[in-house]
Amino acid sequence: MNSRLIDKLATFYDLEPEIEDFGEAVVKGLSSEHKTLPCKFFYDLRGSQLFDEICELEEYYVTRTEVNLLKENAAEISQCLGDNCHLVEFGSGSSTKVRILLDALQQAAGYTAIDISRDHLIASCAELAESYPGLAVSAVCTDYSEALEIPALGSSSGRPVAFFPGSSLGNFDAKDAIVFLGRVAAFLSQSGGGLLIGVDLKKDEAILNAAYDDAKGVTAAFNLNLLVRANAEIDAGFDLSGFRHKAFYNADIGRVEMHLVSTKKQSVTIDGKTIDFEPEERIHTENSYKYSLNQFAGICQEAGFISSKLWCDADQLFSVHYLETA
Ligand code: AVJ
Repeated sequence: MNSRLIDKLATFYDLEPEIEDFGEAVVKGLSSEHKTLPCKFFYDLRGSQLFDEICELEEYYVTRTEVNLLKENAAEISQCLGDNCHLVEFGSGSSTKVRILLDALQQAAGYTAIDISRDHLIASCAELAESYPGLAVSAVCTDYSEALEIPALGSSSGRPVAFFPGSSLGNFDAKDAIVFLGRVAAFLSQSGGGLLIGVDLKKDEAILNAAYDDAKGVTAAFNLNLLVRANAEIDAGFDLSGFRHKAFYNADIGRVEMHLVSTKKQSVTIDGKTIDFEPEERIHTENSYKYSLNQFAGICQEAGFISSKLWCDADQLFSVHYLETA
């Protein structure tokens, strides 16, 4: 099934990120004093579907606000990107937002999608290639948080523009955000490219808490899917009714935290290793940092970027920035 879809792409590079073993990461994360599971493992096929559902939720203002910003400012944004740009998207998911850019640009030299979720990546890129027949679409399956291995941008000669929407930067703490953006800056500086990035802003706590703990329970299912995945892939044997979703804004640190809370004393055995949970003990599964415009400007500066343009909605919920290397 995949090879037929891959045929629709200009190139497909598989850097095999999943070989950095899910099972090993689970055991490691759950063996530490403060139990954690890395958020990058949310995105198996089911998790990617659940994330797309989150993006449609009334409470999850993030996607809707960013999409409106991209649409309302499409003309100005495409002027910044320039015709003949080669868009490189980090964490491309279903590749829906990039369509707004591709529709506004006269012509793009190419599109390279980078994502950790292999099958979802291939299917989304094949679909995109069908919608934009003249566009060279490439896919790279890798974990962009580890290192920035971006294979050559095909035969395309366009000016690279990195696209990092959705406030995915929020998964990094400030130190790692600077490291990541620094790598993007180094990649772009060879060619005078730019970075179009969406950044979620600090706001009323009630809005944040609702966005990560929606009434329909989609975010809860997304969070719990980590355990579903562990049961399916590494035979972990988690009792799914023994954990509940918890999400809240931690104002001191300026981030939304997601946890899975053990509702009882229990243990699971993975790979011969037994892991005990006390009642109310948590597994920390995600951080989503929220920025003030000033804080983000500081991070950009440290990473070697200068902000050349900024778009914000009237309620100051979300920001989109076009950055150039300093
Ligand atoms: C994809 C990391 C930007 O932090 O808002 C959504 C992930 N987690 N709801 C976010 C997420 C729970 C999302 N990012």
